[in-house]
Amino acid sequence: MKITFLGGGNMANALIGGMRKQGFSVAAMQVVEPIEETREKLTEKFGVRCCAAVDAAALNCEVLILAVKPQQIKAALEPLTGQFRDHLANQLVLSVAAGLRLGDISRWLGDYQQLVRCMPNTPALIGAGLTGLFAAPAVGREGRNTAEKIMSAVGMTLWIESEEKMDAVTAVSGSGPAYVFYFIEALEQAAQALGFDVATSRTLAIETFVGAAKLAEQGHVPVSVLRERVTSKGGTTEAALNSFNASGINAAILKGVQAAATRGRELGDEMGKD
Ligand SMILES: NC(=O)c1ccc[n+]([C@@H]2O[C@H](COP(=O)([O-])OP(=O)(O)OC[C@H]3O[C@@H](n4cnc5c(N)ncnc54)[C@H](OP(=O)(O)O)[C@@H]3O)[C@@H](O)[C@H]2O)c1
Repeated sequence: MKITFLGGGNMANALIGGMRKQGFSVAAMQVVEPIEETREKLTEKFGVRCCAAVDAAALNCEVLILAVKPQQIKAALEPLTGQFRDHLANQLVLSVAAGLRLGDISRWLGDYQQLVRCMPNTPALIGAGLTGLFAAPAVGREGRNTAEKIMSAVGMTLWIESEEKMDAVTAVSGSGPAYVFYFIEALEQAAQALGFDVATSRTLAIETFVGAAKLAEQGHVPVSVLRERVTSKGGTTEAALNSFNASGINAAILKGVQAAATRGRELGDEMGKD
């Protein structure tokens, strides 16, 4: 499958690396990337063809992946509606840009409809991502399968039933790794405050998180039950959880994630206003 990336940064690197592991041919991949040093690194690392700007060869592909920053997409798409207008025919266009709506991308591409919006998260960089996917109605089963196969190369995929919910996906799993890091940092700081050195605090905090997440992932019982099992009446865990509840941490998390979803909608409005 011939695949071209617009943008050769973190996300393109994660996807190319993941797809190569899954047996995709890197010889059939191209990257449009303006920075020479980045192009050289991509060619050295993966052997992909790189070019500084969109050209006809780059558009000779079946899938075009928009992997530039959301605010760079409109400019990056201009050659496709200008000099290379005739070269955009039946390609499936995948956007991994946070917040950008398919309606805006479609409009910037002259009412192009073969579009899938993808919201990966940063663990994609190590193949442990989670990507929410939403396809424009014109994308058929084959296009949806292709999108899923590509994003599966960097982790799990989940189809989302409405584009509106993509802002919620961004708020939960897109921004989510930062919430997890925030919690790990706080646990590290707490460990240090209890007298451990930096390295030991890091190990205690990260490995506790990894172990608990793996246990939760097994999914035999709800997470609330797992929590209750660690929480003996009058014990140490209960003392901590009572203190968390008294500080309103649960409500604060809900409010924070809602703030992220609201910000996602605002960014979508701002980016799509022209
Ligand atoms: N990183 C993640 O984990 C993650 C997670 C979810 C979604 N995403 C989305 O993935 C997209 C890419 O993110 P990223 O972290 O990979 O960004 P990045 O590392 O900044 O990569 C984007 C690359 O595209 C280049 N570029 C800029 N304008 C271009 C153009 N007109 N044509 C071709 N390439 C162009 C940039 O060059 P310059 O540096 O010169 O601008 C940069 O090298 C974003 O839209 C982001 O929302 C990323």
